[in-house]
Amino acid sequence: MILVTGGAGYIGSHTCVALLDAGYDITVVDNFANSNPKAIERIKSITGKDFPFYQIDVCDYDALDRVFFLHNIDVVIHFAGLKAVGESVAKPLMYYEQNLTSTIALLHVMQRHDTKHLIFSSSATVYHADNAMPLTEDSRLGCINPYGWTKLFNEQIITDTIKAQKNASAVLLRYFNPIGAHPSGNIGEDPLGIPNNLFPYITQTAVGKLNSLPVYGNDYDTPDGTGIRDYIHVMDLAEGHVAAVKYVKKHKGTHAFNLGTGEGTSVMEMIHAFEAVSGVKIKYHIVARRPGDLPIGYADPSHAEKELRWKAQKTLQESCADSWRWQSKNPNGYQSES
Ligand code: NAD
Ligand code: WQD
Repeated sequence: MILVTGGAGYIGSHTCVALLDAGYDITVVDNFANSNPKAIERIKSITGKDFPFYQIDVCDYDALDRVFFLHNIDVVIHFAGLKAVGESVAKPLMYYEQNLTSTIALLHVMQRHDTKHLIFSSSATVYHADNAMPLTEDSRLGCINPYGWTKLFNEQIITDTIKAQKNASAVLLRYFNPIGAHPSGNIGEDPLGIPNNLFPYITQTAVGKLNSLPVYGNDYDTPDGTGIRDYIHVMDLAEGHVAAVKYVKKHKGTHAFNLGTGEGTSVMEMIHAFEAVSGVKIKYHIVARRPGDLPIGYADPSHAEKELRWKAQKTLQESCADSWRWQSKNPNGYQSES
């Protein structure tokens, strides 16, 4: 049985679908801090499968302990956490408290129940700003905001805890920029309030919820002057977790992997790709660079390809089409009527 924390969230919900489709049994916990109970219902309707769900806070050791008593859990995939960079700068203690306490509580409960395998949602944000591209798992580490530091500290806490236990293992998955949605259009990204990330901003502009996309700078040293990132379809990311489940059971110690496509796409290229797929013109305006943004970031995914035997398969066009299907079917996310 696999325990999925944060399974109602964007990446977690898609990974639950991939795990169920691959035949795994799952138990899901989430406190809905940044998600909606409808996501759990939709995972069940997409897959036609049922699974136990508990609305608990992963920081709550006793509540987690009860879940482990009820189910024989051999692998945990830990998505639960706060992820808004700007909010982490404004409320650093909240981020350190939530994101570190949850992982520590989880590791304690795992030890108590002799659960040996953990997969952790890390991020490309753990890489230092001064690295050459593409980023490999050996690139220099270092962060510029509290959110990023919670990821790096969690990586260290997990590495040390796994090392101290016999036969234990962990996989740290460093995601690049997840976009897209399940091809059904029934689950997808549903950010609270004004989106921080590029892609939901584009889709909400397309659907008319937002007026115009602010493009953060067109004076970077890139071919069209706008920032370049490695956008990966969320179903490819989900399949990366299925591959990591197999890997973590066979390899002791802690292992980090980049999950990205290896391809860089600029903001303007992304706008044009989305327009071509959706047939909707995206209104945008150029504004100043966003503080803390890098000009370019993309992965070298070869380590994951070799070790996990996983490779991103979907095209940018599929990401655009799937996100657009989700956003147009659910203009107000999970609050929509459909
Ligand atoms: P999300 O906010 O959609 O999902 C996180 C889920 O965890 C939510 O359902 C939320 O309600 C739940 N949660 C938060 N704190 C909790 C707690 N204390 N107890 C129980 N549930 C809790 O975010 P996401 O985009 O799906 O990200 C999943 C993970 O991947 C996060 O750890 C995030 O930091 C990491 N990550 C995300 C991105 C990205 O761009 N989306 C990139 C790199 C890493
Ligand atoms: C992508 C590009 C922006 C919004 C963030 C977090 C990172 C990780 C993923 C969790 C950049 C530009 C954006 C907009 C724009 N999350 N942009 N207008 O910054 O690569 O990473 O999400 O781990 O930690 O920092 O992603 O989607 O915010 O930005 O022009 O309204 O789009 O400048 O070039 P980013 P993003």
